[in-house]
Order: sequence, then structure tokens, then C-alpha cells
Amino acid sequence: MINRQTIDRIFEAARIEEVIGEFLTLKKAGSNFKALSPFTNEKTPSFFVSPTKNIFKDFSSGKGGNVVTFLMEHEQMSYPEALRYLAKKYNIEIEEEEETDEEKKESTHRESLYLINKWAESFYTDTLFNDEEGKSIGLEYFRERGFTQQTIEAFGLGYSPDKGNRLLLKATEEGRKRELLEELGLIKERNGNYYDGFRGRVIFPVHNLSGRPVAFGGRILRNDIKAPKYLNSPESAIYEKHKVLYGLYQAKSEIIRNDLCYLVEGYTDVLMMHQAGIQNVVSSSGTALSTDQVRLISRFSKNITIIFDADPAGIKASFRGIDMFLEQGLNVRTVALPEGEDPDSFARKHDTDYLSTYLKDESLDFILFKTNILSSEASSDPIKRTEMIRDVVSSIALIPDAIARTVYVKECAEITDISEKVLISELNKIRVAKFRKVNRAEEEDIQPADLHATDEPEIIKLDTSYQERDILRLMINYGTREMELEAEEEPVKLADFVASEILEDELTFENELYHKVFNQYLDLLSENESRDPVAEMVLSADQDVQNAVVSLLSSPYDLHKWESKSIHVQTEEMRLFRSIREAIYAFKVRKIEQMVTEMRKELEELQTAGEDFILKLKEIDELEKVKRKFLAAQGITILR
Ligand code: CTP
Ligand code: MN
Repeated sequence: MINRQTIDRIFEAARIEEVIGEFLTLKKAGSNFKALSPFTNEKTPSFFVSPTKNIFKDFSSGKGGNVVTFLMEHEQMSYPEALRYLAKKYNIEIEEEEETDEEKKESTHRESLYLINKWAESFYTDTLFNDEEGKSIGLEYFRERGFTQQTIEAFGLGYSPDKGNRLLLKATEEGRKRELLEELGLIKERNGNYYDGFRGRVIFPVHNLSGRPVAFGGRILRNDIKAPKYLNSPESAIYEKHKVLYGLYQAKSEIIRNDLCYLVEGYTDVLMMHQAGIQNVVSSSGTALSTDQVRLISRFSKNITIIFDADPAGIKASFRGIDMFLEQGLNVRTVALPEGEDPDSFARKHDTDYLSTYLKDESLDFILFKTNILSSEASSDPIKRTEMIRDVVSSIALIPDAIARTVYVKECAEITDISEKVLISELNKIRVAKFRKVNRAEEEDIQPADLHATDEPEIIKLDTSYQERDILRLMINYGTREMELEAEEEPVKLADFVASEILEDELTFENELYHKVFNQYLDLLSENESRDPVAEMVLSADQDVQNAVVSLLSSPYDLHKWESKSIHVQTEEMRLFRSIREAIYAFKVRKIEQMVTEMRKELEELQTAGEDFILKLKEIDELEKVKRKFLAAQGITILR
């Protein structure tokens, strides 16, 4: 267990915009930053980072929190993982508290898998560099292929000994759990015997975005054996194949810097391109890309260039897969390599300048590339031409941007010598059909229960949570601000003013969460007068409290104005006293309305107009008077 002081130090050191900036492209917006939401597929940024408040808020998905929450949400790290990640980044030494047996049990399954994989990675690299067999076979193989020491280290390459179970033996010696090794595919079982899963192979670790190995690929060294060339780790609690891209960890900063990502097929293609100085390269590991992987890339850049071997059949086979990029609004280009080359062999032969010039000059917009290929194949065969038009247009139809679609139609008309009109009419057909399909799916989504819901008698809600939220929002944002209520009197803290107004009238917040936040705030404030309770609540272990505070700190109301230099916030501060009084009055008025409604109901239930009846009428009258006073004091109607 990481001790409290270390956690505090980590939170003090971590700059949220720096940490998030490693994963997203942040743009300055006033004193804050914004980005496209990494959690949804959006086109206008609604993800905000506030360095002063030390929080992020994503209005598309509703997620928000502190720097650790971000790592947990975005990187799927556990709480301790996130802390360790930050400690490493900011050079903070972690002090651990002795773990009890109970805590040991609790330390998550995922965390243990990460640790095992990290351990295995070191085992493989250690074997590669220090073991006789590793050196003479594994290292020799990499050297022969032309990989430098630097490349081998940057990608953590390794070697798994040929002899049956060396990894397993070492693991057993160190008391590591066999089940975990098995779950990760590091060892396998046959007829009750266990052996190393990757034996006799060179190892390519697959890293997640924070650089932890989540899987391994093992390449066989001899060609005479009838075993698959590559063995890959099975999926596990820390490895979902379709959410990971090989090389992305090593490439991400260069992808951002170049605002471009190259996509190649295999491990060795990535390695050799990287070594040749083209470092914004990732690999799909030999399979068609998933939507998740495309999204992953698009977090770092909207521009992707796919590098093909010259093989035309392979190129055509990949067309379908590429449509997905278009759908996600990416700009896709393609480069074909000279006959007989793959990125690995090509990169080995040329220097950085030659390569980058080639990749730039030879790259072609995907739609035009596809049109060219199909068009030349279809030649004059009318049936083939019809198919070709449909095929090309169906790709164009996927592009979300209308202007881009129009441009493509124009250019394709030129290439194919087919009139724009024909292409547009085909395009519209496809888009209408697609639109219908989406609508139908949405209609089917509506459950019968929803349709009946309107039959229910309407329940009149006199809920006060809107007013409670308003009070809390002011308290969380300005609670420690001092206000002069009356001339000559001591200034009071806004939070104290609220507390006295609410508590003295013996009112409570109805919304459970708001109630909890309200009380915690006051508790923290009374514990330490000089500290802003919000700083602590943003880090609260209670996720609900944390989310509520973050959302109140960054309510959309003032966020809309973030870009116009927080003009709204300023004016709100200036009329702070008035705002908080209004909020409290609104709350009280609502409370009175609740009581009045309740009493009217009781009145209706009284059969005779006896003494009770008169008394209740009087009470209602009194309450209405108080309510009018509150309203008059503000000179405005404040009910929603
Ligand atoms: N692949 C795999 N399993 C196989 C073959 C291929 O998982 N049996 C994946 C690997 O990720 C590989 C990629 O598909 O990197 C591309 O395959 P290939 O071009 O055959 O491999 P290279 O990376 O080029 O490896 P090498 O150059 O060493 O042959
Ligand atoms: Mn190859």
C-alpha cells in the first residue's frame, strides 16, 4: 500500500494538463485547455481541463475528475497503477506501508497480471542479453536482421529459451502464481505438464499507452518446423486485442508532432521504420483494424497513411477495412511500396530523408487511389462499371463532412469520366438508405414500457434539488470567499452564511448526495478554517462526492464562457452576495410550497369545516405571506 504522504506528494506534483496532454491533443482555451472527447466520437471539443482547479470534465460522456480519475478512465489503470504511473513521471519515491494479508488479497487481479507480464518482459530481455543461448540465438537473429541495440531496447525485445520450462521454473522459485502465468499465456499445459508458451522464440512485447506490457508476440526462428510463425498472447483481463496497437506507445508523441500516423502490417515493419527515423508508425499486427483501434489513432491525429506492399490483391482486400477510417472522419492516404518490398525491407535500404520524401510524394488520397484502381480494372465493361461506381460512392457516402463529399464526387467524376450528376444521385440513394436504417434501429430501441409511461397519472414534483444544486454550486466555487453582510459587521465566509441560513431554519437538503456534499464541506471547513475543503473533496475516495464536486466546479453554465475569459464567473463573483441570497431564498420558497401543497391535501381530506380546518387555513396563509416576502425581497420571480 502506498502511504498517505506519498499520495499527497503525487497529487501536489502532478500537473493535470501535462498528464492528460500525453494522451490527448490539448488546445489552450483561456486559462484552460480543451480537446476532443476521448470517450466519444465527436467533432467539436467538449472535453475541458482546468489547471487551476486541477480537474477535467468531459461534457460528452459526463465523465470528470482529477488526474488519477483520468488515468483510471482513459487508461483503464487501477488506483494504485495510476499513482505509480504519476510517481514515476514526477520522480517521486514511493513509500509503501506494510501490506496486511487482507490487503494483499485485495490488490487487484489486474495489477498482479501487469506485474507478472512486466516480470516476464524482464525475464525475456535478460535472457536475450545475458544468457548464452539468448545471446547466440536470439540476439544474433536480431542483429542479422539489422536491428540496433537502441531499437531492441526501445521496444523491449527479448528471447524465450528453447528448453521447455525455464520461465516457469524461475517463476516457481520466486513463488509466483501458476494460474496467473497460465492466464497470460506465458505457460501452457499439456497432459498435466506445464511448459513455456513462447519457448524458442524471439519476443516482441506489446505495450499499452502507458508502456506496460499487456501481451507478447513470439516469432519462431527456424523455418523447418511446421509451427505458426508468430504466437501471440491470449486475451486477458489486461489485454483486449482490438483495443491495442503495436508500437503506439513508442510512436504517440511523434504522431502528435507530425499530426500523422503511418500504419503498417507487422512487428518488424514498425521496428525497422522506427529505426530508420520514421517513428510515427503503428501496426495492426496482421489483422484488419477494429473501430476501437481507429479511435485510438484518431485521438492523436486525424491523418493516417497506410503503407501497402505492392501486391494488388492485398490492397483490394483491405478496402473494406479502410471504410471504417472514413466513417470516423479520418483523412486516409495510401502509399504503395515498390514491387517486392515491405516496410521492413524498404526501410532497411534507405535513409530517413529518402523515406520521408518517398512516403510524402507517393502517397495518394485513399478515395482517389481506390477510384483509380477500380476504374482501370472496370475499363469498358458496363456491369463492372456500375459495380465500380457503387463501390466508390459507398466509400464517399461514409465521410461525415459534406464539403469533403462534394469535393470527392468532383474528383472521382474526372477520374472515371462519369458525370457528377450520376455520382451524386447514387450517393444520395446510399445516404437515404443508411439514414432509414439508423432511424428504424432507433425506433426499435424504444421499449414498450416507455410507451406506456405516459399513461401514468402525472406526479407533481416539488423537488428542491435544482435549488439545492444552485446553493451548492456557489458554495463549492466561492465558499471560502468573505462577504460583508452589513456595513460595520465582521465579514463572514460565504459557506458560513449559507450554513446559518439553512441550519437555523432547520432545513435539510432532500437530495441525498447534495446533503452529503453539503455536510462534508462544512465538516472539512470547521476542521481547518484556513483550507479550502474543495481541494480535499476533489480527491475524495467517495466517487459520488468527487463527481458531484467536480461537476459543480465546472458546471456547463460557466464552462460555456471559459473561452471568453470567464466573464461570467467574474460577474458572478461581483454579485456573489446577491446570488447566494437568491439561491437560498429560492430554496426556502420551494420548501414553503412543499409545505403548502401538503397542507392543502390534508385540508381536502378533512370532511368537516371544524377547528382543524380553520387552523390549517391560517397556517397556509402565514406560509404564503412568508413566501411573498422572500419573493418581494428579490424583486423577481425566481420559480422555475
Ligand atoms: N502475424 C501473426 N501470426 C502469424 C503471422 C503473422 O500474428 N502466424 C502478425 C504479426 O503481428 C506480424 C504481422 O501479422 O507482425 C505481419 O505478418 P508478417 O508480414 O508475416 O510478419 P513480419 O512482421 O513481416 O515478420 P517477418 O518480417 O519476421 O517475417
Ligand atoms: Mn516481414
